[in-house]
Amino acid sequence: MIELEVPLGDRSYPVLVGPGARHRLLEVLPVGVERVAVVTQASIPVEVDPGVDHQVFTMAEGEYGKDIGTVEDLCRDWARWGLNRGDCVVAVGGGVVTDTAGFAAAVYHRGVPVVHVSTTLLGQVDAAIGGKTGVNLPEGKNLVGAFWQPSAVICDTEVLRTLPPREYRNGLGEMAKYAFLGVDGLVDLPLDEAVAACVRCKADVVAGDEREGGRRAILNYGHTLGHALETAGSYDLRHGEAVAIGLVYAAELARMLGRIDGRRVDEHRAVVAGYDLPMRLPDGVDHDELVALFSRDKKAVGGITFVLDGPDGVEPVKVADTGLLREALSRIG
Ligand code: GLY
Repeated sequence: MIELEVPLGDRSYPVLVGPGARHRLLEVLPVGVERVAVVTQASIPVEVDPGVDHQVFTMAEGEYGKDIGTVEDLCRDWARWGLNRGDCVVAVGGGVVTDTAGFAAAVYHRGVPVVHVSTTLLGQVDAAIGGKTGVNLPEGKNLVGAFWQPSAVICDTEVLRTLPPREYRNGLGEMAKYAFLGVDGLVDLPLDEAVAACVRCKADVVAGDEREGGRRAILNYGHTLGHALETAGSYDLRHGEAVAIGLVYAAELARMLGRIDGRRVDEHRAVVAGYDLPMRLPDGVDHDELVALFSRDKKAVGGITFVLDGPDGVEPVKVADTGLLREALSRIG
C-alpha cells in the first residue's frame, strides 16, 4: 500500500493507493465518528464497510445526477436520518459522486467531513484529490461549487479492474498530462505507482496553490481544447480522450510560439500513443467554433489563456493571435 499526504497544514489528509485500500476505510475516518452516510450510485460495483453505523444514499446515474437537485435530496435525506457535524460522509464512486457528495458535505450544517473512496482512474488521479467540489447548472458544468478538502482519499486500484475499457482509457487521458507536469517515466510505471505518482504531483501543486490563484491552473494542461471538443458537440469523445488531443494541440501551439522544439512535441505524441489515446481532431470539426469556445473557457480572463509547455515547464500563457490557434488546429486535423 502506498501512503501519501496532501500537505495543507491542519487540513492535511492521507491518500491511500493500492489494491484493497477500501478495506482500510475505518482507519482513515475522522476520530470519534459514529455514523457514516455512504453516497454512491446503483451502477457502482464497489461496497465499503465503514465499520460504524452507516446508511447508503444512492444518487442518480451519470452526469445528470450531478446537479443542485441531488444536493438538496442528499441534504434532506441526511437531515431525516439525523446526520450531524460529528459524523462523516463517505463518497464511493467516480468524479460525479465525489464532486456532488463533496459539495453536499461542504454545505450541509455548514460543513461535515467527507472521505472519498474513488472508484475510477480519472477520479483517483484527479477529481478526488484537491478539494474541488461542485455540481452542474443547465448553463454549464461545475458552475456551483466550493473548495472542501476531504479528510482522506482512498484510491483502491483493485476496483479499477471492474471498469469498462473505455472508462479506463478516459482516466489514462487525465493521467497522460502528468507526464509533462514532472512525473518522469510515467507510461512505464506499474499501475499503483503510476496512480501514486500522479497523486503526489497533484498534491504538491494543490499544496502550493489550493484555491487556484495561479499555479494550480497547470492541472488543466490539455483541457482548453479538451473542453472545447466536449462542448462543441457530438464527437463521441470521453473527457480523457478529448484531453489527450488537447495535449498534442498544446504541444503544437507551444512549438509554434518557440517555447519547445519538435522533439518535445514528439514526446507528447509518444505519451498519448503509449496510452492508445487519440491525437487528431475528429472528422468534420469546425475550427472556428473551437476558437470561439476557447475564449469562453473558465481560464479566459482578459484574453485566451492556454496552459503551455516551455523552458520553465508547463505554465499559463496568454495567446492573442487567433491565427496561430487556427494554424495549430490544422496541424492536428
Ligand atoms: N482538476 C483540476 C484541479 O483539481 O485543479
